[in-house]
Amino acid sequence: MNRLDVIEALMGQKKLKNYLEIGVANGHIFFKVKSSFKLAVDPAFAFDTLRRVGKAILNPSNLSNQYFEKTSDDFFEEDADRVIGKTPLQLALIDGMHEYHYALRDVENTLRYLSDDGVIIMHDCNPLTPGAAVPYDEWVEGPWNGDVWKTIVYLRSQRPDLNVFVLDTDQGLGIVTRRKPEAVLDFTPTRIKALTYDDLAKNRANWLNLKAPDYFYEYFGLKKE
Ligand SMILES: C[S@@+](CC[C@H](N)C(=O)[O-])C[C@H]1O[C@@H](n2cnc3c(N)ncnc32)[C@H](O)[C@@H]1O
Repeated sequence: MNRLDVIEALMGQKKLKNYLEIGVANGHIFFKVKSSFKLAVDPAFAFDTLRRVGKAILNPSNLSNQYFEKTSDDFFEEDADRVIGKTPLQLALIDGMHEYHYALRDVENTLRYLSDDGVIIMHDCNPLTPGAAVPYDEWVEGPWNGDVWKTIVYLRSQRPDLNVFVLDTDQGLGIVTRRKPEAVLDFTPTRIKALTYDDLAKNRANWLNLKAPDYFYEYFGLKKE
């Protein structure tokens, strides 16, 4: 199971539509999503007009895409009120800058525009090596997940209005919904800042509220197709 399976199951079966993707790169996921309201945000899109046209032929819902070639912070500051307005987001994939405070701002900003039953998916929540969890400036090679995992710890500690868990697949898919939390953590922001990869490795299942991939279907009452 990967992030596209999760997106397609929610869109298809729960009929979620209005879609935001933060961090789009070449649009590998974005262009496959079928919805007439899709927002793409990335300061450096890795595709040109020709690819956009080709993808619109393959998936006609891409004809109405809206593209914002800027950081997510700038998008929320400059465009979100106007563009999202009275069309609350129902599904968002947060996959931009993989650092704790960036990912946290992306979640908090997205929540301002998310419908009550909306869903946020966060990529890269479960780094499996110390090298994948370093800050961007120190990253050398291989997968880079950064410290998005700290955002999960923060939300589970500081946001009792949200239920947050991580599916143990595709580098850790964080799922954020406005439901009663199953269990909470008690970390302060100061303590979270000081946590290390070794701390995560010793407490991974508990801190991330790690779930087997199939839990996704159970949680949302979906059929596994
Ligand atoms: C891992 S890629 C996204 C992959 C894509 N979501 C997918 O599933 O195929 C991360 C992207 O985040 C973008 N990015 C970096 N900083 C960002 C920021 N501050 N706001 C939004 N996107 C950012 C990068 O340009 C890069 O294209």
